Amino acid sequence: MSAEEQTCVDISPLIFRQLFDRETCTFTYILGCQATKEAIIIDPVIGLVERDAKLIKELGLKLKYGMNTHVHADHITGTGKLKEIFAGCKSIVSKRSGAKADEFVDQGDQVMFGNQTLECRCTPGHTDGCMTYVCHDHKMAFTGDALLIRGCGRTDFQQGDSGRLFDSVHSQILSLPGGYKLYVAHDYKGCTITTVAEEKQFNPRLTQTKEKFMEIMANLNLSAPKYIDKAVPANMMCGYVAE
Ligand code: FE2
Repeated sequence: MSAEEQTCVDISPLIFRQLFDRETCTFTYILGCQATKEAIIIDPVIGLVERDAKLIKELGLKLKYGMNTHVHADHITGTGKLKEIFAGCKSIVSKRSGAKADEFVDQGDQVMFGNQTLECRCTPGHTDGCMTYVCHDHKMAFTGDALLIRGCGRTDFQQGDSGRLFDSVHSQILSLPGGYKLYVAHDYKGCTITTVAEEKQFNPRLTQTKEKFMEIMANLNLSAPKYIDKAVPANMMCGYVAE
């Protein structure tokens, strides 16, 4: 097949849902391959597993992977519970997170479900194990807390490092084509989606120099997340809460 013919090949349709947790303002994403019905879920929240499982079943999807963008500090992941509901579902997390999971991913790895592929890009700085998942066919990326809409994840706990975060976001996320849609892990103002071009123009932190960015991040004075003492240990164990 010539290169010209290849560009005419249809891109396999994607089933896509964005879900929201009102308590922690967390987004969860379900992506499914229309042709094979294989699906993944990104960043599920433990308290909303029933909601997510119901939707996955209603859409006729087979859950292959429960993935996390990182070890969250504000909520417990739903991947452990989803594995109990969907036989054969495996959990995925970054190798560099140090957390438990069935499979581990690192820079450049690919996660496949049906005819769909996600490229794994390491975006450390909020935590060591932060991973951005990029779907080139559909021009979308799931940035976790590395990049938020007009913001970014905080860098004052876990393995936070603002200089690293600045380098990660610029080299791995904002280097994508401008039209790529970005889906983040949280939003506290009611926004749902952004693009590479928008953030390159309007992100108030990441349009600054690295030095200025680091200064901004050092002076946020945020209070600790409510559930950090429970969430981090549980998420290191794939969402299983110690009795
Ligand atoms: Fe986080």
